[in-house]
Amino acid sequence: MLKGKRIKLAPLERKHIDHFLKWFNDPEITQYLTIYKPMTRDWEEEWFSNLKTREDSVYFSIQIIDEEDQDKIIGNCAIQDINNKNRACSCGITIGEKVYHNKGFGTEAMEMLVEYGFNTLNMNRIELSVYEFNTRAFKTYRKVEFVEEGRKRQAWYHNGKYHDEIIMAILREDWENKAKE
Ligand SMILES: CC(C)(COP(=O)(O)OP(=O)(O)OC[C@H]1O[C@@H](n2cnc3c(N)ncnc32)[C@H](O)[C@@H]1OP(=O)(O)O)[C@@H](O)C(=O)NCCC(=O)NCCS
Repeated sequence: MLKGKRIKLAPLERKHIDHFLKWFNDPEITQYLTIYKPMTRDWEEEWFSNLKTREDSVYFSIQIIDEEDQDKIIGNCAIQDINNKNRACSCGITIGEKVYHNKGFGTEAMEMLVEYGFNTLNMNRIELSVYEFNTRAFKTYRKVEFVEEGRKRQAWYHNGKYHDEIIMAILREDWENKAKE
């Protein structure tokens, strides 16, 4: 478990599936994700059961540090596609509890996830992608020092229109330079 100032990154547990079903069936959340089909309990349970065999990924729940409620899950995040030759990976985040949006929790979780990627997994490069209309996520990633590297033009069809997918990444050297500031 990784402990931050206001949140902790803790293991994902089967009991969290109810939360995932709520978040990943909510179009206000899924519009920003690759998910577009209805999410079923069967699918979530199968996905969860397969997690332990996924050598290339590390998943966390994002929980508020609250002495009274020990398991206040507000989202999840992950390091994925770990490539140990290139020391590169991708990452992703969802704060599924919407009342916790825009309160700095996403930025704090991404900072912790990136630190884990560099300091524990010994990655050199952490990549992500974000749809161009997700200005809140783009701003969050910029705050963590992810850099826009390019755009896959019209790669994502959503709500009757094509949108660019923005590729962003942070290198170990970016992160170390930020720490020196
Ligand atoms: C994206 C997400 C992780 C960000 O986490 P968060 O806790 O809401 O974000 P934070 O409060 O840390 O930071 C958001 C920043 O964006 C800004 N912001 C919010 N809405 C904005 C908008 N429409 N346009 C521009 N900036 C916006 C906020 O003001 C804040 O910046 P500031 O600290 O300089 O004021 C979270 O909102 C989320 O999970 N959303 C739904 C799923 C999703 O989009 N996942 C990412 C897919 S790539």
